[in-house]
Amino acid sequence: MEDRFLKACRREPVDRTPVWFMRQAGRYQPEYRALRERHGILEICRAPELAAEVTRLPVEQLGVDAAILFSDIVVPLAPMGVGVEIREGVGPVVAEPVRSERAVARLRALEPAEDVPFVMEAVRELAGTLDVPLIGFSGAPFTLAAYLVEGGPSRSYARTRALMHGEPSLWWRLMGILGESVLAYLRAQVEAGAAAVQLFDSWVGNLSPDDYEAFVLPASSRILGGLADLGVPLIHFGVGTGELLPLMRDAGATVVGVDWRVPLDRAWDRLGDGVAVQGTLDPAVLLAGWKAVERGAGAVLGAAGGRPGHVFNLGHGVLPGTDPDVLRRLVDLVHERTERVGG
Ligand code: CP3
Repeated sequence: MEDRFLKACRREPVDRTPVWFMRQAGRYQPEYRALRERHGILEICRAPELAAEVTRLPVEQLGVDAAILFSDIVVPLAPMGVGVEIREGVGPVVAEPVRSERAVARLRALEPAEDVPFVMEAVRELAGTLDVPLIGFSGAPFTLAAYLVEGGPSRSYARTRALMHGEPSLWWRLMGILGESVLAYLRAQVEAGAAAVQLFDSWVGNLSPDDYEAFVLPASSRILGGLADLGVPLIHFGVGTGELLPLMRDAGATVVGVDWRVPLDRAWDRLGDGVAVQGTLDPAVLLAGWKAVERGAGAVLGAAGGRPGHVFNLGHGVLPGTDPDVLRRLVDLVHERTERVGG
């Protein structure tokens, strides 16, 4: 198996900088859109053969160095007792927002083997057949809680922030059951064959460092700490996290995912040499023509400066409307510009 991705996660020397893209499977692909004409997104997530097919597509088409399991962060919420759907152009929508003791008491902890067997089946199938490492993933407790509390996407998650300050014991009960579920879910994915996992705390950048430390870090570090014995790289990612990066590292990450707002070299200065860094090209640049992509990618690679431990990625997911050919050329560009003789 080609393992330059795993080596870079461990800050070992690599023959070329590895590259993969968040949302490398999705609406920018004509094949995915065709499949979505016939199946809902959650239907694809729950059918192992469809999920595996969609996971494989970008690996074959783009030549990326890692696959990410096709699923969604809301998948484990349904068996926990949450009525949830994904609305196109909106995101996850929760039928009955979770804001009271009663609503939290109704949630039950995820038991991955019984509740989401289709995920484990897709992971097993992919891990046995892909020739690049498979990344498993989960939403982090804060980001999942934010959807549960707000009932859907929100500009700044103010209701969630108010709840953590106003009803801390309710907050901790919610974080407790989500944390326990996420840990079990990620452990099960690794046991089924995932070679690395990414904890998506997409919306945690809405918190101050003090609030992150007080209300989120304990739950996320219990998860990352609870995975450490498995020996796989643990990627910890969020959007708008410039001020949170050292805390996200301290939670137990081996790779910190950075968005495009913080230059990669500055992020690395804040993080120190003890972790790998993933990112950070602005996904909007991919809509701006090849010259802009070349310039943007060059700046990211320049900021990485060839030090071990860079995993090239976008600062957030591939946007719908991105030309697949631009992604393909970007993979080649990263590989060509970072080729090291003798590896
Ligand atoms: O990265 C990959 O290729 C793996 C697949 C993946 C999906 N969702 C599939 C998906 C992953 C890793 C996710 C995680 C996810 N889901 C996150 C964390 C990552 C991030 O983007 O910050 C979040 C916040 C969600 C919640 C969610 N699901 C949103 C905001 C949306 C977009 C809604 C829209 O229509 O714009 C979804 C739907 C979703 N999940 C799509 C895909 C490919 C969109 C395509 C579709 O509807 O078929």
